[in-house]
Amino acid sequence: MAQKDIPPEVISRVAELRDQLNYHNYRYYVLDDPVVSDAEFDRLMRELTRLEEDYGLATPDSPTQRVGAQPLDKFETVRHRQPMLSLENAFSEAEAREFDERLKRFLKTAEEFDYVLEPKMDGCAVELVYEQGRLTVGSTRGDGYRGENVTQNLKTIRAIPLNLREEKTGAPELLEVRGEVYMDLPEFKRLNEDRLARGEPAFANPRNAAAGSLRQLDPKITAARPLNIYCYGVGEVRGHSFDTQWQVLQTLKEWGLRVNPLIARQRGIDAAIALHRQLESQRHGLPYEIDGMVIKVDSLALQERLGAKTRSPRWALAYKFAATQATTRVLSIEVNVGRTGAVTPMAVMEPVEVGGVTVSRATLHNEDEVARKGVRVGDTVLVQRAGDVIPEVVKVILEERPPGAQPFRMPENCPVCGTPLVRPAGEKVTRCPNPDCFGSQTRSIMHFASKAGMDIDGLGEKIILQLVGVGLISDVSDLYGLTADDLIPLERFAEKSAGNIISAIQASKEVPLWRLINALGIRYVGEATAQLLAEHFQSLEALMAADKEDLLHVEGVGEQVAASLREFFDNERNRALIRKLTEAGVRGLPPERRAAAPLSGKTFVFTGGLSRFSREEAKAQVTARGGKVTSSVSAKTDYVVAGADPGSKYAKAQALGVTILDEAAFEELLRGGK
Ligand code: IVH
Repeated sequence: MAQKDIPPEVISRVAELRDQLNYHNYRYYVLDDPVVSDAEFDRLMRELTRLEEDYGLATPDSPTQRVGAQPLDKFETVRHRQPMLSLENAFSEAEAREFDERLKRFLKTAEEFDYVLEPKMDGCAVELVYEQGRLTVGSTRGDGYRGENVTQNLKTIRAIPLNLREEKTGAPELLEVRGEVYMDLPEFKRLNEDRLARGEPAFANPRNAAAGSLRQLDPKITAARPLNIYCYGVGEVRGHSFDTQWQVLQTLKEWGLRVNPLIARQRGIDAAIALHRQLESQRHGLPYEIDGMVIKVDSLALQERLGAKTRSPRWALAYKFAATQATTRVLSIEVNVGRTGAVTPMAVMEPVEVGGVTVSRATLHNEDEVARKGVRVGDTVLVQRAGDVIPEVVKVILEERPPGAQPFRMPENCPVCGTPLVRPAGEKVTRCPNPDCFGSQTRSIMHFASKAGMDIDGLGEKIILQLVGVGLISDVSDLYGLTADDLIPLERFAEKSAGNIISAIQASKEVPLWRLINALGIRYVGEATAQLLAEHFQSLEALMAADKEDLLHVEGVGEQVAASLREFFDNERNRALIRKLTEAGVRGLPPERRAAAPLSGKTFVFTGGLSRFSREEAKAQVTARGGKVTSSVSAKTDYVVAGADPGSKYAKAQALGVTILDEAAFEELLRGGK
């Protein structure tokens, strides 16, 4: 029926029903204070559904449209406009106090901060994008830069508004909301009971259940899962501005987004610590799982000054609750060979539940650690798990040691290839020196293909073991020569799955440079360092050509990392590997140059004390604008910033004719734009 033939009373009734249903949703999910019965809500929904069907009036943001999208083949990738960072952890009161002191030092202030304190939800981080008030895209956090587009699944969560409420505060042009999707404990228990009754495996904990439910290709499955959300922050916002985190949270509520009612604002770290204690005692009475309290500096102006390190902002801290512990028995001590050839002892234990997760292995780190803790096979041990980290053995319960238990001894030969193991004097780590060791070979290929590396979908441990085992690959460059025909004869492969893996491998030929650097598995070079290196050198060739001095010039690269990089790139085997990768067409794409880096290419040296900045903040302000800070003055120095009582650098700058700035001129230069 054409729009003009629809009776006007139908059009207005449809609008009215949508308003009512949106309002009742808000009362129910956000305010937790419904004003109609479920039956009445259902009646309104049925009426709207019928009218929309009869007159063809359904729109994507109608409350009737939460379910009904078609299953997907795969999720598209979404780039976050601003990276979704993670949080630095603190595990004790002392560490929380250190955080507070660090901020005061950085900002050169003795004043107490206003802090916003929020429960740290244990679920799955998501971003919701609202354009002109309408939900357009929802995604998972992914690696922080790119996540998966799970819009149609997020739309099935009734607590997520499809349109922002506008009566108090008009909707902004663009709003990126960050929050945590989670599952309430009673609902989680019910879901698991249903699954077990149907012969399906239970979820280990509510977090896995939430993450698993969000990543369903068929939104009908997600719709049937009892998911909920608490929002805790924003990314990019256009058309509205905030002064404080507290204001952000209050405004999110006005817009109809769900915010945890336990949030608080307090002045000073003492009050924050007191609240942490209170929250920890409330913790087990809550209907959902939290694993700590997040402390955030309230003032957004201060947040801006504090800025971020590579992975986490300086202005926030996850102050965790005490780790959950349990006792169990050590069945054996295995040694694993890692990708760098490092041999790590692992305790294999009777499975035990620790804080909702079943644990059966714990790392023992290295030979000295095993000796220090005195762990023997047969011992009863206390194990703990804090957050996502690998469970660890805290101590042995000596009273329960069985007679005849023998101390652990590191094997003399590699458990995988039999090569005699080495442990250089002064080092803690024992290694298998054989570069062809099947153990380190497969580990390094696994690392290469992993999420943090080239992110090759579907190429997991089992398949890699299989490919190395049959001799199809012996290093990562061999991956790119594989064809579907190589794989099809192998067990577990059909034409389709073989094709999928090959296309995933081919798709990984062009990745952001930092992924390629990280994927190489250079000792001491993780994601964060790889990003710094990619930003600085812009190509793998430039990185390989850098000498130790050049490397040390990269902010965040110290002696150990620089030495390890040189050692890696000087090794002829590694150079040959990189040549083979390049020949196969593997290329690291340089990071997009940050637009408007006003101090890019400028080198600064500081001397003397500044009054309004700590040295650390002054440096951070320069690097945030693309500039570089070095410690000694040379003809290459662009600016020397001289504070009170400058040292000999001042005279040297004068002698070399380098521009000298006082504190006021430095501030002026910074104000020139960020
Ligand atoms: S703020 C820039 N607030 O913790 C700050 N995160 O380790 C980034 N989380 O990925 C996050 N509750 O999934 C923040 N109230 C809260 C949170 C919270 C849970 C999770 C979130 C994030 C992880 C950071």
